[in-house]
Amino acid sequence: MPKSRPNVAVIGATGAVGDVFLRVAEERNFPLNSLKLLATARSAGKRLRFLDADIVVEETTEAALKGADLVFCSATSAASRQYAPFIIGEGAVMIDDGSAFRMQANVPLVIPEVNGEDVEWHEGIISIPNCTTTPLAMALHAMRQVAPLRRVTVATYQATSGTGAAAVEELRSQLAAFGRGEPIPLPSVYPHQIAMNVLPQVDVFGEDGYTAEEAKMRNETRKILHLDGLQFSATCARVPTIVGHAEAVHVEFTGPAPLAAIREALSKQAGLVVMDDPANSVYPMPLNTAGDDRAFVGRLRVDESTDYGIAFWCVTDNLRKGAATNAIQIAEELIKRGRL
Ligand code: A2P
Repeated sequence: MPKSRPNVAVIGATGAVGDVFLRVAEERNFPLNSLKLLATARSAGKRLRFLDADIVVEETTEAALKGADLVFCSATSAASRQYAPFIIGEGAVMIDDGSAFRMQANVPLVIPEVNGEDVEWHEGIISIPNCTTTPLAMALHAMRQVAPLRRVTVATYQATSGTGAAAVEELRSQLAAFGRGEPIPLPSVYPHQIAMNVLPQVDVFGEDGYTAEEAKMRNETRKILHLDGLQFSATCARVPTIVGHAEAVHVEFTGPAPLAAIREALSKQAGLVVMDDPANSVYPMPLNTAGDDRAFVGRLRVDESTDYGIAFWCVTDNLRKGAATNAIQIAEELIKRGRL
């Protein structure tokens, strides 16, 4: 019997995404029957607000997960791997924000506005894409309605909340020390100081010189769009902002893709907003898009360096559409399709 008001558990409820998850679930009036908030033993006993109740956080254990129909997981890959077998064994569905299962062949990787139908073939786990992949795949999906995609190159400018609450705290404490004219505390989350700096490293380096984040963007974009052969190269950088990942993107098509048609396709794409009035310095930035559930695109122009090219800029609240909102939309899609 499909569930329309599930019992929900959130693993990682005390984290940067977990907090936004609760706010988005409230805003969207997500139809839940019960809600359990889970984290590590360190957080057990903390109280978190949801609607008009204070919910006591529990340690994540199999006993605590028992009875859940839907489990949102935004913790660590290790936690996702540890609890997935139990969750599936219980007949529940896990919506996972981590990278543990994203590329597994029997795990759909879903952005509801792009490939919502992929939830149909889930076997207990559905992954949400990396927070930089989501807005890019949405824009590319809109653009491919105009002409087939050949090649994508992208540079990202990623906020510290993408790393988690401890990274945001590291930036804050470095900025505070700078403001007071004191020595800046040594980093512990990042390999270098993040305040007043840009780090051309997000995640660890692979043997080919790309970071894991860059490889994720490439592999996930191909999987979501069902375009295994898409030529793709990314450079991901961490910048000293708190919320909002920005991306500079260049796309090559296999044939003519007129700018006006691209603009129209982007404006029609669900979940995407074109914010593009360069004469008045209007374009998306972390500060004018944070708190919004949509992805924003601007600085649209012809890329003169190739035959059929378009360049653009996009910014998205990484905690919302990049994570929590997308996860909740997947749950809504499952309920709508009777697949929970
Ligand atoms: P805790 O707050 O108890 O450490 P962030 O991405 O902001 O760093 O947050 C990570 C979230 O994942 C936190 O809620 C954290 O709990 C939780 N978490 C980390 N490791 C585990 C684990 N092994 N099992 C369950 N929750 C975990």
